[in-house]
Amino acid sequence: MLQDQLQRPLRDLRISVTDRCNFRCTYCMPFDHYDWIDKREILTYEEICRVVRLAVPLGVRKIRLTGGEPLVRRDLPDLVRQLAGIAGIEDIALTTNGSRLSGMAGALRDAGLRRINVSIDSLDPERFRRITKRGDLDDVLKGLFAAKETGLAPIKINAVIERCVNEEDILPLVEFGREHDFVMRFIEYMDVGTANAWRLERTVPKAEILERIGARYPLEPIGRGEGNAPAVDYAFRDGKGTVGIVASVTEPFCGTCSRGRLTADGRIVTCLFSRTGHDLKARLRSGTGDDEIREWMAAVWAGRTDRFSADRLHAIQSDDGYDPEQHDKIEMITLGG
Ligand code: GTP
Ligand code: 5AD
Ligand code: SF4
Ligand code: SF4
Repeated sequence: MLQDQLQRPLRDLRISVTDRCNFRCTYCMPFDHYDWIDKREILTYEEICRVVRLAVPLGVRKIRLTGGEPLVRRDLPDLVRQLAGIAGIEDIALTTNGSRLSGMAGALRDAGLRRINVSIDSLDPERFRRITKRGDLDDVLKGLFAAKETGLAPIKINAVIERCVNEEDILPLVEFGREHDFVMRFIEYMDVGTANAWRLERTVPKAEILERIGARYPLEPIGRGEGNAPAVDYAFRDGKGTVGIVASVTEPFCGTCSRGRLTADGRIVTCLFSRTGHDLKARLRSGTGDDEIREWMAAVWAGRTDRFSADRLHAIQSDDGYDPEQHDKIEMITLGG
């Protein structure tokens, strides 16, 4: 079985289908203008499916479509349909800002999508607008309920919690999830990319998030989904569902990280915090054969030593501390979370 240098298999492929987004979340893409990847450099659906077919024998079973915002890419249901037809793929999921979901949920479901994660950082329309800069909470909520109506399940809601920005939203979001049967997940603010000028002080640690929730709704730990998911799940003791926390900063999960990433412009990236990627597109477009590409992908994974979040925690706890400016990283929009 293919393993990296830290004995981790390759199980999940997170595919960014576009670097574009119609929001400008302050923690992700804070600038008005970006130099978007040239359309010709974006992998076609055919190329993406070829990569997935080649990745199955290497161990990939789960596909997550991300962006930027994946639903701004034209005809996304077509890609879902093609991916759903690839033997060996057991799970196809989508992470979206929800803004275009209301008109597309049915088509995505018909194409073979089964579950979806929607980002909602606040239920207060003004704060939601302040965080996303261009987002309209009503549109997102319409999308969320349209997804529920079509039968997509589970539906998870992601909220990045940032100090002095939306800590007050934690409990209302918990209550919203419990009321409507959505799985609420809270995410520690991370130093993905460099545009957000992240500071450790702005991260609200998992322990604090849990304390706030647990004080009102007592919790029971469940653990990580399939043992390796980014989120640690907790059950409400009253039996009304679960909540998850993604604590990449204070409780890194690099030891079990089986996630590879494919950027919209066809690079393989082996860690969310990588400085650079491995040029797969050049191989796809130069007539290289399947076997050779598969072997090259296997070699990339076999050489992987990434454990960025674990190293960051180590640095945070050391006398020197952690300086995010010392680390050059690919922006989240090209990487897809
Ligand atoms: P499920 O399959 O539903 O559990 O989804 P997921 O939590 O793996 O994916 P999602 O796209 O909803 O991501 C939730 C949060 O986890 C986002 O903030 C991601 O950036 C973060 N995340 C996902 N994978 C990794 C990872 O490998 N490392 C780190 N540090 N964060 C990750
Ligand atoms: N820290 C934590 N999560 C982030 N996301 C985007 N930027 C950050 C960040 N700096 C989340 C989004 C989305 C997922 C793909 O990644 O909210 O839910
Ligand atoms: Fe767009 Fe998602 Fe980034 Fe917000 S977090 S700017 S919705 S890609
Ligand atoms: Fe995996 Fe890198 Fe995230 Fe660690 S920081 S869990 S190695 S993607």
